[in-house]
Amino acid sequence: MAIILGIESSCDETAAALVSSDGRILAHRLATQEEEHRPYGGVVPELAARAHVEKLGPLIEGALADAELSLADVDAIAATAGPGLIGGVIVGLVTAKALAHGAGKPLIAVNHLEGHALSPRLADQTLAYPYMLLLVSGGHCQILKVEGVGRYKRLATTIDDAAGEAFDKTAKLLKLGFPGGPAVEKAARTGDPKAVPLPRPLVGTSEPHFSFAGLKSAVMRAAQSGQYKPEDIAASFQQAVVDCLIDRTKRALQASGDVTALVVAGGVAANASVRAALEKLAGEHKLGFVAPPLWLCTDNAAMIGWAGAERFALGLTDPLDVMARPRWPLDPDADKVRGAGVKA
Ligand code: KG4
Ligand code: ZN
Repeated sequence: MAIILGIESSCDETAAALVSSDGRILAHRLATQEEEHRPYGGVVPELAARAHVEKLGPLIEGALADAELSLADVDAIAATAGPGLIGGVIVGLVTAKALAHGAGKPLIAVNHLEGHALSPRLADQTLAYPYMLLLVSGGHCQILKVEGVGRYKRLATTIDDAAGEAFDKTAKLLKLGFPGGPAVEKAARTGDPKAVPLPRPLVGTSEPHFSFAGLKSAVMRAAQSGQYKPEDIAASFQQAVVDCLIDRTKRALQASGDVTALVVAGGVAANASVRAALEKLAGEHKLGFVAPPLWLCTDNAAMIGWAGAERFALGLTDPLDVMARPRWPLDPDADKVRGAGVKA
């Protein structure tokens, strides 16, 4: 059994965790930077990088203390090496390199998206490859067939915004606060999902891609019209996103459905309506359904430690001069999508 120290710093969460190769989370600590970024209504990269520098050391020490371990007991050190805000990624990766060098331990450079993609196997040890993954976060909205560690077939991506980004922008438009996803979900609880007519972009098209820019514009027009209550807009928006996610995932399952389970990961997977609709879809396709617990859906270091454990078991470690990468697609062979913007 191996013990992996995981480090995460790619966006606005600083985190450290200790995970064992048999799937136990020995310790996990996380410091959110919500307060630092709240005045700006979004993540400010420079502030994020500075906050990671301040918070990471104590979090690693704290996680080791919680697990009653020292660095000498750790078998490898895994850190997010991208994709993400490059200043933050560098802070975590350089810290991991220094610890690996100092303690004479192997380094594992983890793709943050692989952390999300494999997190369901940490949540459910019986989950076998291949599985269909809906990866929905603030920066990404993809459907991937996960065939094994490092083996991802991207079936769909967004041609503009990510689902979490749409939640965040809607929260901003409706002045619901930051971070946006949980704020929209909370407001939607008391709203009517049928109150506001909103589009379902790309629903029904043969390729299972996503688009949320038109939905965002429609939300803006609804908000500016003064005709609707914010909670009704929030509920109608959330329903539109759920309908898009379900239609597109259904299409992916039809195209490539020889999988063991339907799995959801990434921050938007914390949304109860999204989870419930996907569970129903999995049932209709007679597939198992796995959604990690909420804290494991949003950014954390346990998923990075676990991806590190899966890599370590296969002998996959990295040299100390491995580079941080602002962009790093899980499936580099995926076709470019017409209309796709900067998001991988
Ligand atoms: O995976 P994550 O923590 O960070 C990225 O790698 O992007 O995802 C953050 C995203 C944000 O856009 C946030 O608004 C969204 O996940 N999110 C939610 C919920 N909780 C977080 N979206 C909808 N409902 C939620 N409950
Ligand atoms: Zn993430």
